Amino acid sequence: MSKVTTSKLKSMKQNKEAITMVTAYDYPTAKVVDQAGIDIILVGDSLGMVVLGYDSTLPVTVDDMLHHTKAVTRGSTRAMVVTDLPFLAYHGSFDRTLEACARLIQQGNAHAVKLEGGQEMKETVFKLTQAGVPVMGHIGLTPQSVNQLGGYKVQGKDLETARRLVEDAKALEEAGAFAIVMECIPTELAKKISEEVSIPTIGIGAGPYCDGQVLVFHDLLGFASELKPKFVKHYAQIGIQMTEALEQYKHDVKQRAFPQEEHSFTIKEEVLQQLYGAGRTE
Ligand code: KIV
Repeated sequence: MSKVTTSKLKSMKQNKEAITMVTAYDYPTAKVVDQAGIDIILVGDSLGMVVLGYDSTLPVTVDDMLHHTKAVTRGSTRAMVVTDLPFLAYHGSFDRTLEACARLIQQGNAHAVKLEGGQEMKETVFKLTQAGVPVMGHIGLTPQSVNQLGGYKVQGKDLETARRLVEDAKALEEAGAFAIVMECIPTELAKKISEEVSIPTIGIGAGPYCDGQVLVFHDLLGFASELKPKFVKHYAQIGIQMTEALEQYKHDVKQRAFPQEEHSFTIKEEVLQQLYGAGRTE
């Protein structure tokens, strides 16, 4: 199967073929996501909440992203791997932003970076794309701005904020972004924006008319995700299955039902004799 590239994503939009994107944060997860034929693997900074146990994405660092990106890219062969620029890694000097991208792409082997923000990020996105860094935008509910947004809320419900989102999407397109994540915005607004921009839109809580959809791996599989936002669909209950398996293992060990002969190794009787047989001194 051929690798997913930015031009392939563009032609998927043109051909109205839906784009699939799922997060992954480690090697085995990347392998199953890639083998399932998902088009884009996102090493999201949601890893801060999902696998590192923070209560927001804000503490995640470039070092964290690099560590997890390396594992994900080792596990994927077909999917495009996009990695998040974490909180404040792209707001200081452009040299710092470029250095973060260089680490994630050169050392982490990511194919592209994602950053949050619209019009205010236009210049940064332009400079990055000019430097050869493929950039995916992210507008609507941008979790790195949770303190400014006043919580994890649907965005763009009134005229002013809806208009701003349309302008954000256009600004990212003009700056050279190859795709835009739209998070938690009303369905009809996401539809209009998807029609107005030529680059693919990837929705999460943005209704069915985006050019693609993204979900967090743990949400999709029902794995250790206590909260179930309205936009999440659990395609499995892996967490329950894992707990049941662990309880069964515990039971078998306690009952000495595991391991059995088939799980064990043998030694020749004569070796044992030599070790513990007659004449052996303590
Ligand atoms: O970090 C992340 O997982 C994300 C997705 C929710 C789009 O940004």
